[in-house]
Amino acid sequence: PAKKLLVLPGDGIGPEVMREVGRIITWLEEKRGLSFEITEDLVGGASLAEYGEPIRDEVIEKARAADAVLFGSVGDPRWNHVGFEKRPELAILKLRQELALFANLRPAKVFDALVDASTLKPDVVRGLDIMIVRETVGGIYFGNPRGIETLPDGSKRGINTEVYTTSEIERVARVAFDLARKRSGRVCSVEKCNVMESGLLWKEVVTDLHAREYQDVELSHMLADNCAMQLVRNPRQFDVIVTGNLFGDLLSDLASMLTGSLGMLPSATLGAPGANGKTPALYEPIHGSAPDIAGQGIANPIAQILSFAMLLRYSFDLQEEGQLIEDAVSNVLASGLRTADIMSEGMARVGTSVMGEAIVRE
Ligand code: NAI
Ligand code: MG
Repeated sequence: PAKKLLVLPGDGIGPEVMREVGRIITWLEEKRGLSFEITEDLVGGASLAEYGEPIRDEVIEKARAADAVLFGSVGDPRWNHVGFEKRPELAILKLRQELALFANLRPAKVFDALVDASTLKPDVVRGLDIMIVRETVGGIYFGNPRGIETLPDGSKRGINTEVYTTSEIERVARVAFDLARKRSGRVCSVEKCNVMESGLLWKEVVTDLHAREYQDVELSHMLADNCAMQLVRNPRQFDVIVTGNLFGDLLSDLASMLTGSLGMLPSATLGAPGANGKTPALYEPIHGSAPDIAGQGIANPIAQILSFAMLLRYSFDLQEEGQLIEDAVSNVLASGLRTADIMSEGMARVGTSVMGEAIVRE
């Protein structure tokens, strides 16, 4: 059966880098006999301009009906003056919320050809390939009570509460353990159980689940502050890291810079399998719409292309095709082609479409 894909290019460089994925899809259909049923729609500033809202309910319904969503990026400075309810960025927030996408997967992989692009020493990052799994719909960003209160003396206090339930912890830990089975088989669970009750429960639940169902995976635990330090000191000690919303936000941004380039990094956000057996899933590069370079044809399409490779692997279990794409990217980089963001001395500087074409050819 045709694989149903909803493609949402969005704003800025979104449509430019998405076009390069289109070439790969065509190649897969022609050369590998795969069949995709693709629907494309507007989100973000592009949707605001056409329909007056960042995302229509109709698009959310299409996302629910699709096997997977491939997202570009949203954000357009022309809408900076409008109120929060009309920000282009609401499109992605609403999609995550409506599809209950609770597990954000962010790989940080260093390509051999780009070892020098990292801000860390080559011998620290060479061969790095880790995956951070961040819980995204619970924790301190959403817990109650929250708010700003005025105290009797007229001063104020701001309140956020970290809340995690057994089932919230278990479902994200399950994603991490399942991933580890397809990788090097190691999970490091990160919290601050030394000072937080929610961290204590986190550790307990992960430990229990591991004992019950995942004894073949190697589980370790680490305090979040130590993990930040270890990620810089010796990142290759990790395989899969699983953590809550707040720590995951910080640690995944930190880890992304180990690779040195925003334009290279994909991500996936997964929900819970529904009654129909379908797992809602959205794939997107971690970068935004890059308004500063939009329309110039110089954006790096690799993060978007690798997001599509993740989609093939996780939503369709097309491991071989995912690998083909990742190898093609690696080989093209080794051949010396570079977009501006990853340019270094002696390399050949190319634009978005030359990079995309080279990857398809490879
Ligand atoms: P950004 O990621 O768009 O850009 C940061 C810097 O990296 C810019 O100098 C940009 O030119 C460069 N860059 C990013 N992706 C690149 C690529 N593929 N190739 C070459 N260079 C690249 O982040 P920024 O500037 O903070 O945000 C711009 C807009 O994007 C804002 O409206 C923001 O809200 C939105 N945004 C949207 C996201 C999403 O759709 N999930 C995520 C992050 C930001
Ligand atoms: Mg962030």
